[in-house]
Order: sequence, then structure tokens, then C-alpha cells
Amino acid sequence: MIQTDLQIGDVHLENNVILAPMAGVCNPAFRILAKEMGAGMVCAEMVATKGIVNDNAKSLRMLHILPDEHPVSLQLVGSDLDSMVRAAETVGRATNADIIDINMGCPVLKIYKNGSGAALARDPEYAARIVRAVVNTVDRPVTVKFRKGWDDDHVNAVEVALAVQEAGAKAVAVHGRTAKQRYSGRADWSIIRRVKEAVRIPVIGNGDVTGPDEALALLEQTGCDGVMIGRAALGNPWIFREVSHYLKTGRRLPGPDAEERIRVCLRHMELLIEEKGEWIGVREMRKHAGWYVKGLPGAAVMRERLNAAETKDEVRGLLEGYLEQWFRRAG
Ligand SMILES: Cc1cc2nc3c(=O)[nH]c(=O)nc-3n(C[C@H](O)[C@H](O)[C@H](O)COP(=O)(O)O)c2cc1C
Repeated sequence: MIQTDLQIGDVHLENNVILAPMAGVCNPAFRILAKEMGAGMVCAEMVATKGIVNDNAKSLRMLHILPDEHPVSLQLVGSDLDSMVRAAETVGRATNADIIDINMGCPVLKIYKNGSGAALARDPEYAARIVRAVVNTVDRPVTVKFRKGWDDDHVNAVEVALAVQEAGAKAVAVHGRTAKQRYSGRADWSIIRRVKEAVRIPVIGNGDVTGPDEALALLEQTGCDGVMIGRAALGNPWIFREVSHYLKTGRRLPGPDAEERIRVCLRHMELLIEEKGEWIGVREMRKHAGWYVKGLPGAAVMRERLNAAETKDEVRGLLEGYLEQWFRRAG
């Protein structure tokens, strides 16, 4: 039997299917959609502690959480203890995030070259100091997300998990790839099992979950407590409904038809525009719209047109015309 709810510190998740943090994607608009579609928790894109500490307007805006998103995990990325603590203080004071997560897995050069992201997990003792300091600063559960290790010669996820648990982390999310792998190869779920066997806090498994079957396989093969879904949710927030329903009932829900995809895509754009204004909202929407139509007939041409669209009316016109051309007439 699969346990489908999840407790992280004092935060209760109605189901254990979680939207992964994704920079440039997991802003309030997408988080709301994922939540509505059944995610048990949504993670915000990482926010740089330096930006928060320096009152950078963009970083502070990223702390904004809408009432319908809860539970939300807000992720900090940084390296020095002082900025981490000061940023956590601000987040604790200025937002109603339910959980504060610390990024110890980002493999991007710009992030790790100054000791942030995946570089933090190279030194479990220092990682633990960071966690202890943040735990002592905020009044909500602190969690940590990290990878299998730095590279194949430095696989230390179990050590990191034990160190951050000892320091007070209330859950860990483990992506089964090394930092050097970035996104290549397949995620190694056996490391998630090894972490689960080693710690007593909840373990959230991550990497290559693309639908209900993989989600169930990850839970069964590793014994982990929850699954975190990233890339497979791009343009596909329905995945949360499909996976959580399947885990609970063993039954499959049908995927969205083209009409539903376009309807939700347009809603996504409206939410983005509400948050960021039309100019930015439409530009950010181009990549999302491309993902929403992926796999549909004529998607490549449509993507090109969407990439040139400048206004919300243009995007709406293109998508509605597309439905008319490919789906309504045929039906
Ligand atoms: C576009 C993109 C942005 C990401 N940004 C973050 C981030 O801000 N913080 C983080 O911890 N992981 C980030 N990740 C990693 C994901 O959270 C996740 O660990 C990874 O995609 C593996 O899961 P998946 O196979 O379900 O995609 C990002 C991944 C992608 C594709």
C-alpha cells in the first residue's frame, strides 16, 4: 500500500506529489495551476540570498506568494552563512511560505562557482552549519534539496542527508543525478533508496518521473515518502492530477484534450500577466505556450508564431485560430 499524504514538520501535505522548484518557471502563475491540478505542494523557483539581502527588487518580488498556493516551499540559494541567515529572516518575516528550502543541488556554473547550489553539498559539515543556522532563524520547517553527489567519484548524498537531518532539516529531496551529469543519463533511484534507509525524516525522490507509472515505481523501488516532478510538468500541470489520482486509487485519468490544453494555457498567460504585466507576461508565456502545444499536430509552426507574438491578444488569436484549424473543423 502506498502512503499518499505527507507530513513535513508541522506542515501537512494532502498528497505526496510535489512540483519541483524550477527557475524561470515556478512563479505564482504556474504554482497556482499545479496546485489546482492536484499537487500536494508546490516549490518556488530559487531566490538568491544575496539579492534578498541587498533589497534587489526582482528578488523581493520572487517572495510573493498568492493565497491559493499553499502549501508552498520557498527555496534559497546562496553560500555564506551570514547572507543565508539574513535572507531567511526576511523570508520568515515577509512571506507566508510554509517551508524554507535550501538549494544544494544546482549544477549551473554561475551558481556553484561561488560556492552555492551543488557546491554546498560537497562539504556536508558546512552544509549542516548552514541548515542549523537557518533552522535557528525561522519558525517553519527547513528542508534541503541536493543531488546524488558531485560526480561519480564523489557520491555523498547519504552523508549530506545525515548531516542536514542532524542539523534540524525536516525533509530532504534527492535528485538521483550528480552535479556533473546535470540532466544527462538517467536518474539513479538507488541512491534515493540508500538515503531513505539512512534517515528518519521524509525523503522526497526526484528525477525522471514522467507519469503515474514512474511515480509508483519510484515510491516502490526506493521506499521514499513523496515524488517531485520537474520537467514533465512543463506545459503539463495535469500530471499532478493524473499521478496523485493513480497513487490513491490505482486508476488512470484521461489526459487533457487540445481544447483543455489551450484553455489552461490561456489562463496561465492571464495569471502571468496579472503578476508581471503584459510585456513580460507575453514574453515569458512564449516558452510555456510552446510546451502546452507540444505533441499536437502543427505544433512546430505554432511555436514559431507564438515566439513572435507581442501582445496577449495576438497569443490568444493564434491559439484560438489553431484550435479552429486543427480541432474544431475536424470535429
Ligand atoms: C528549467 C529548470 C529550472 C530548474 N531550477 C531549479 C531551481 O531553481 N532549484 C532547484 O533546486 N532545482 C531546479 N531544477 C531542477 C529540478 O528541480 C529537478 O531536480 C530536475 O529537473 C530533475 O527532476 P525531473 O526529472 O522531474 O525534471 C530546475 C530544472 C529545470 C529543468
